[in-house]
Amino acid sequence: MGALSVRVAVVFNRDEALLGGGVEDAIAVQAVVACASAVAESLRASGASVERIAIRPEPREILRVLANLDVDLVFNLVESIGGDPRLEAAFAGALELSGLAFTGSDPRALGVSLDKPLSRVVLAAAGVTVPRGATLARGDEPLDVPFPAIVKPTREDASHGIDGASVVRDVAAARARARFVIERYRQPALVEEFVDGREFNVALIGEGAGAELLSFGEIDFANFPADVPRIVTYAGKWIEGSDDWNRTLSGAAKLLAAAERAELERLARGAWAAIGGRDYGRVDLRLDARGRAFVIDVNPNPDLSPDAGFALAAQRSGRTHAQLVARIAELALERRAARTRGA
Ligand SMILES: Nc1ncnc2c1ncn2[C@@H]1O[C@H](COP(=O)(O)OP(=O)(O)O)[C@@H](O)[C@H]1O
Ligand SMILES: [Mg+2]
Repeated sequence: MGALSVRVAVVFNRDEALLGGGVEDAIAVQAVVACASAVAESLRASGASVERIAIRPEPREILRVLANLDVDLVFNLVESIGGDPRLEAAFAGALELSGLAFTGSDPRALGVSLDKPLSRVVLAAAGVTVPRGATLARGDEPLDVPFPAIVKPTREDASHGIDGASVVRDVAAARARARFVIERYRQPALVEEFVDGREFNVALIGEGAGAELLSFGEIDFANFPADVPRIVTYAGKWIEGSDDWNRTLSGAAKLLAAAERAELERLARGAWAAIGGRDYGRVDLRLDARGRAFVIDVNPNPDLSPDAGFALAAQRSGRTHAQLVARIAELALERRAARTRGA
């Protein structure tokens, strides 16, 4: 022990007040507080001297806190400010301006991936297959997608705004759901071709197309009744004891044909490089009935809680939570050292 002899500030958002969505949307926001404790503990186990800093939604205070930080590294777990996930990128921008070394992705990658229509364009331009889709800002714009389709908020993550009613069978239902999303989440809705087959999570460490891939995760939909859409809903991810939670199982990916695995790897690496993610990320993919793979979602700075998908993938690949967190810290410190050397 004692390999990581640096001073680290673990920063996280403390903002139960939400801009959009309902009361239940707060559960996902509060999970970051427990995550910060686990990350701090793991960093200490590796020898770092650690302080935890809660970021509250007061702009001047945030800038003052950063200006007064005297540490070698900021471990950035801030996912939103005042409940607004768009400020995740702004906070990374403030870290950049502060001159402090920090873990995870830069503001650009965080901003692109939180904007689903934009990230679809970036991925497609890089040759990464995405489902067909259309963005509706009002609800009545032209809509040319195959059905069934899924309707999602364009600028949320953590499955906010996703439930059984998100999957629709025709244009009228798609428009109705889009209007609901626009109204409730105050942002455009994305209507996307529904990719009906197996769903995988690919965790990556590092950056670019050469990033290290961890053991694939897979969502097991076997317990879903025939009339319930096979998707990871907000309840399935966050509301313990709900029907969706009880039937949404995840674990190591089951048997995959070599060609399918190779294609999932190609798309995961391609997506990660195209978004410009750094240090750690997770790419969600699905197969369709014919075995073609699609990227559904790219997540820079994914949840690092010990019981969340990323840490479980690391564990299957032989890394403890402490080793995982130390590796992420090292990547950020190496990047800083390389920049100081003028590399
Ligand atoms: N085009 C799609 N086809 C099939 N399932 C989808 C599609 N888009 C999203 N889903 C389902 O909805 C879940 C959440 O969507 P995702 O785009 O990952 O949103 P978030 O950014 O909130 O995680 C996915 O894990 C998947 O189960
Ligand atoms: Mg997702």
